[in-house]
Amino acid sequence: MRQYPSVTVFANKHDASRQLALDVSSLIYQLNQSDRYAVLGLATGSTPKLFYQELIRLHREENLSFKKVITFNLDEYLGLPKDHPESYHTFMREQLFDHVDLPPAQTHLPQGIVDDVEQHCADYEKTIAESGGLDFQLLGIGRTGHIGFNEPGSPRDSRTRAIELDELTRRDTAEAFGGLDHVPTHAITMGCGTILGARRLALMAFGEAKAEIIRETLEGPITDQVSATFLREHPRSRFLLDPEAASALSQPLPPCETAE
Ligand code: F6R
Repeated sequence: MRQYPSVTVFANKHDASRQLALDVSSLIYQLNQSDRYAVLGLATGSTPKLFYQELIRLHREENLSFKKVITFNLDEYLGLPKDHPESYHTFMREQLFDHVDLPPAQTHLPQGIVDDVEQHCADYEKTIAESGGLDFQLLGIGRTGHIGFNEPGSPRDSRTRAIELDELTRRDTAEAFGGLDHVPTHAITMGCGTILGARRLALMAFGEAKAEIIRETLEGPITDQVSATFLREHPRSRFLLDPEAASALSQPLPPCETAE
């Protein structure tokens, strides 16, 4: 029988998001207890929204504090100003930053408008390293198999850089932008190497639209054509799925029991 990396199928995306939020809050607590900041890599998109809602709930109701948290987002669209409604800066403010006690100076995202892209990317890498590296990286997965915006062909050791978005990725977001013509063609993304440098990783995938790429990610060859396959080589990577996203696996895993 084939051995997967850590894969858990939850009864639904709410349970998966709640569990991950609890795990991340324990990590923050543990690191803070040993007088360290928690350095978290964050993702955007529809997948992590419930996870952020749960972190906000833990902050409001269970005293989870973000005062000693530093964040680095995976990516940002090139050409979008920070206050554009579809920018990842706007997303993070609306979904998390505006609702918790995280000091703005401790949040980092690649900039969508920048004079010297190469220098900016090198600086982003340097800031991550100077913060002590990523304790945890949150990931979604695109239908091209991208993590961050590491589209097919992204080398395993790639670092933060500008990348051209795949046509499928652009089509998947066309509605939000009011048509394909309005979707940016490029983004800045952490590289696969940057992401794999995190000490722990969690990829969440929900819904039937992700079933085929999850099957390729977990059962296909490890290849730069599906950058998420590199996670299988990381000893502390986890996949948190709902039954629909797990439905194309050749040996579907039963939904796990989750504690209330
Ligand atoms: C977002 C990111 C992307 C998304 C992926 C899935 O910061 O880096 O890799 O995680 O495109 O997007 P959703 O969750 O909208 O399906």
